[in-house]
Amino acid sequence: MNMKLDYLKYNHQAWNKLSEKGNRWTVPVSEQEILEAKKGVLRLLLTPSRFVPESWYPPKGSRVLALASGGGQQVPMLAAAGYDVVSFDNSERQLDADFKTANSFGLHVTCIKGDMNDLSCFDKNSFDAVFNPCSTGFVPDVANVYHQVGQVLKPGGLFMTGFANPVIYLFDIFLAEKGEFRLKYSQPYSDLDSLDEVELKHFMDANEPLVFGHSLAAHFKGQIDAGLGLVDMFEDYWGEQNPLDKYFPGFIATVSRKLDKDSVLSL
Ligand SMILES: C[S@@+](CC[C@H](N)C(=O)[O-])C[C@H]1O[C@@H](n2cnc3c(N)ncnc32)[C@H](O)[C@@H]1O
Repeated sequence: MNMKLDYLKYNHQAWNKLSEKGNRWTVPVSEQEILEAKKGVLRLLLTPSRFVPESWYPPKGSRVLALASGGGQQVPMLAAAGYDVVSFDNSERQLDADFKTANSFGLHVTCIKGDMNDLSCFDKNSFDAVFNPCSTGFVPDVANVYHQVGQVLKPGGLFMTGFANPVIYLFDIFLAEKGEFRLKYSQPYSDLDSLDEVELKHFMDANEPLVFGHSLAAHFKGQIDAGLGLVDMFEDYWGEQNPLDKYFPGFIATVSRKLDKDSVLSL
């Protein structure tokens, strides 16, 4: 990996700037959405467009870790729906949006700044659920994030996550923006290693967070190795007229349950 660039430091600043500019993932929910969440109608997103099915919701009152979920969206809605929410995000701006939005509706949330690579500030087995909207693409080692989640979840606890289908990263990016798809990059993809200097500069000049395209094996085997047993999944599209939507759904959401030791296969 390009070790000269500190991806964590860069992404921290990039997300703070995106939050200032009002990027789609940083615009707080409306009063209407909070009122509906209070009635139990939750419009939670793990992926760009499709709402999380109600059957995935943990029981009301559950202690939920909203992992890399800042921005005043999912976190205040979860609090309005009666969950005890801890928001953990690497951008203080995104956390500020959670805190201020929740506060403006008289809701309580706990906000903690940190890196999803290390959840050791939390006690083991201390959350009933972990809610993780698309964000593991901002770190190089997704298996470690799943391991961290496995540590802080209670046995039987739920882990909901959204992630990109790794195929979306394989095409020539500049041609893809014009709707022309030509394979260019190999899997696993990393902005730091897959792009040449000119391409990397183009995205960094535009304040794009650095991304890593993990293989499907990294996602599924990573969860299995962390003791997280798959319960359900769905696929989703970008929306917003992304040309890839014509060909396949670029996102995947999964819900898994932390297995107790006896339920884990020893092969
Ligand atoms: C696409 S946004 C998701 C939040 C959005 N409000 C949502 O509900 O989907 C990605 C979030 O991941 C956070 N993030 C990126 N890298 C992180 C890291 N290493 N540790 C913790 N949070 C991180 C960003 O600050 C940002 O708030």
